[in-house]
Order: sequence, then structure tokens, then C-alpha cells
Amino acid sequence: MPATDTITTSTSTRQAEQPARIATRRRLLMCRPRHYDVTYSINPWMNPSRSTDAALALRQWEQLRDLYLELGHGVEEINPVEGLPDMVFAANGATVVDGKVFGARFRHAERTAEGPAYLRWFEENGYREVLWPEHINEGEGDLLTVGRRILAGTGFRTDSRAHAEAQEFFGLPVTSLTLVNPRHYHLDTALAVLSDDEVMYYPEAFTPGSRAVLRSLFPNAVIATAEDAAVFGLNAFSDGRHVLLPTAAKGLQAQLRARGFEPVGVELTELLKAGGSVKCCTLELRDR
Ligand code: ARG
Repeated sequence: MPATDTITTSTSTRQAEQPARIATRRRLLMCRPRHYDVTYSINPWMNPSRSTDAALALRQWEQLRDLYLELGHGVEEINPVEGLPDMVFAANGATVVDGKVFGARFRHAERTAEGPAYLRWFEENGYREVLWPEHINEGEGDLLTVGRRILAGTGFRTDSRAHAEAQEFFGLPVTSLTLVNPRHYHLDTALAVLSDDEVMYYPEAFTPGSRAVLRSLFPNAVIATAEDAAVFGLNAFSDGRHVLLPTAAKGLQAQLRARGFEPVGVELTELLKAGGSVKCCTLELRDR
């Protein structure tokens, strides 16, 4: 048998072994970028002297929202507040698991008013268990739920004491991970959750100890290259089947396809000027 046949056979066998990828319907909270702009700099992506195109930012954001709706997800919108240009990054607004809302307390003065604004939305929308936290945490930017575990980032924004606070509040194991690269200042810029037990991440964004923790928890994780990480490819949202991620992250898209996921490229270049993309714009409402 020629060598090529062997390769074809083994490839198709491997594909047949892929778990069936099943999308589950999610409820998402998003914030229209009506007041979006880059007027200050709190991460290395933000350069206030470069201009932003407000109309384009809005169109790109609407495309992401429409994609979620087309995929069958529910999208709630919180009213944007004037003077809070980063409020579009809804992921930072809270962490919601089992219908319980762990509020966000921001590191930088420019964003502190977002914490109470998001918390109010939850109170007005019938959430009963809502905690205004003691320590700094930037919501799902740094607290990512994988099945019944929470991965928690620290190093730039979220205070590691918030990890213990979240564990106590949710009653779920919280695993601390330390970030080292300022371009990956939030956990959701260096790691994405793909399913209840799978993630993809960029090892170089973490300390050696945190890398070892990730290797032991997720030995078969998708590993991102520097190129894919640099275009924010890990700032992705997965519904268990479809993985929405920046169009430019071609390597990750190929890896995801090989594992049976359906990657969907999204163009959010205007929001990348503030250091955000798909996941940053998306807060998952994990109701009970
Ligand atoms: N300009 C915002 C900041 O630096 C971007 C936040 C991005 N959000 C995220 N979930 N990573 O705070």
C-alpha cells in the first residue's frame, strides 16, 4: 500500500474517534459600544493617540451579536454608560455561575464605576444572590468556568485574594494561575474554555508553575502559537461546538477543526485597539 493511503486511513480513523461536538444554548450579556473609544491606556494595546472608528466598532460588535443570535443563543443587553468607554467589555462586569453573581471590582480608576453599573443590572433582572466583592477581580476576564471548576488569573488585574473569595462564594474549586506577559493581562486573553473539560491556551503567558498546573489538568489542551496568541486568538467563545474567535487566528482554527469543533472567524479589529475581542465582549449568564 502506498504511504499516502496509510496516512489517509489513519486520518479518517482519528476523525471518526472525535467526540460529537454538541452546542448548548447559552444566555449572554453584552454592552453595545455606543460610548467606545480609547481615551486612556491601562494595557499595552491601548494607544489614545491612535484614532478609533466608532461606526466600525459598532458594526463589528453587531456582527458578533448577530452571530450569537443566528447560532441560537440568547443575548441580553445592558445600557452603556457615557464616560465608561471600556464598558463594551461585558466579560469584566461579573462572574455568574449557578445563577449566583460575583460582582467585579476593577483595578483602575477609569473602570471602577462599571462594577456597580453591572451589579445594578443583575439586581434589576431578578438575580437574588449577588455579592459585592471585597477584593479586586475583573469578572470573567480573570475567572473562567470549566465544568465545575473555576480557573482564576492573577498577576495584572485580579487580586489573588479574590480567588479564595470566589471559591467561598460559589463553593467550587478555584485554581489560581499567574500571568506574566502584559499583553495577556487578563486570563481570557491567554486561555479559552472549549467544553466542560477542554481548554486552549498560550503557555508563555504563564509562570512555569502555572504552566505545570495547566499541563496536569489539561494534558490534551490545544496549545496556541505566539502568532495566534498575538492576534488575540485565545479571546474566544465556545458553545461546545462553535468556537467564535478572531479571524486572524488561522492556526487555532485549523487545530479546532481537527478536533471536531466548528471555528467561526469574527472581525473585531476596532475593539482590539482597546485590548479586547470576542470573549471580552461576552458575559455568560450561567443560570441555575
Ligand atoms: N481596555 C480594557 C482593559 O484594559 C479591555 C478589557 C478586555 N476585557 C477582557 N475580558 N480581557 O481593561
